[in-house]
Amino acid sequence: MTRYARITGTGSSLPPQRLTNADMVDMLAQRGVETSDEWIVERTGIRARHFAADGVFASDLAAEACRQAMDAAGVVPTDIDLIIVATSTPDMVFPSTAALLQHKLGIAGCPVFDVQAVCSGFIYALTVASSLIQTGTATKALVVGSEVFSRILDFTDRTTCVLFGDGAGAVVLEASDTPGILATDIHADGKHSGILCVPGHVSGGNVLGDPLLKMDGQAVFKLAVGVLEDTARAALTKAGKTSADIDWLIPHQANIRIMQSTAKKLKLPMDKVVVTVDQHGNTSAASIPLALDHAVRAGQVKKGDTLMLEGVGGGFTWGAVLLDF
Ligand code: UT7
Repeated sequence: MTRYARITGTGSSLPPQRLTNADMVDMLAQRGVETSDEWIVERTGIRARHFAADGVFASDLAAEACRQAMDAAGVVPTDIDLIIVATSTPDMVFPSTAALLQHKLGIAGCPVFDVQAVCSGFIYALTVASSLIQTGTATKALVVGSEVFSRILDFTDRTTCVLFGDGAGAVVLEASDTPGILATDIHADGKHSGILCVPGHVSGGNVLGDPLLKMDGQAVFKLAVGVLEDTARAALTKAGKTSADIDWLIPHQANIRIMQSTAKKLKLPMDKVVVTVDQHGNTSAASIPLALDHAVRAGQVKKGDTLMLEGVGGGFTWGAVLLDF
């Protein structure tokens, strides 16, 4: 019998501190930086984001999201035999955020690791977890995206700091007799690494280079709209489906204009697109599972729906996962 991988539960976590665009205008004004609610809404669709308090790490947000996902799936921590965390804002240089999360959840023994594919991280993590389940290496996996991007923002750079937020999303992915994950498609092209990066690193006890996020927004925008269409079509072709089979498109939540463009190219109306960027901003690897969980809990996404998840981000990385929920 073919062994498939299926999402059986979702969860998410947002830190309590919510900053509206008006709050960002005030915060940046104190640094002599000018922005406006109108500019942010018109160019990005973002109205608010959440920032984690000092001392709250990616593993903390991930732990809450995982507990919710396990509750929804009806599994307990000792059932879990694989944890993959997608993050670009890990708690430490090492060990992995997944190892810290594993301990916080009271799990021991199973393999755990982080995936670093920036905003495509959850798509990469889901692809790897699905493969490990299909080959019999794992049976019940936690696949997580968790970020505290507020820690790597330059609050004197208005072109980036208004865009990002903190949060986490998680799914339980289980072995199943029925699909599940229908197709995956992941890519990268390192020649574009300079257009979205945090170039600093730790060396000899010092941070060398700039440890804050840098982005050429227009270059990222142009690449994003092209590759998001290509990867969605590639996943559909692999599964023998067309965009008419998609019940919900759940794209990486970076900019409403990119989502509108992708939906148009795939001939999907916007009422088939899950949008949370307005309330969460861009939470990088967390954005897709966070949006998925919100759509499930809002009663939008239902059991049996066909979902297209897709992401794009630093690396440059991109990819898609088509699945029956
Ligand atoms: O998560 C990974 C994927 N990331 C993305 O997908 C992000 C992709 N890029 C974008 O979403 C958009 O390029 C941005 C939202 C980052 C920027 O939007 P844009 O329409 O490309 O604006 P722009 O960079 O062309 O800037 C237009 C103007 C500039 O002023 P001038 O030169 O025309 O006078 C900027 O200085 O807007 C100005 N500007 C701002 N004004 C007020 C840039 N940021 C701000 C701001 N507030 N926060």
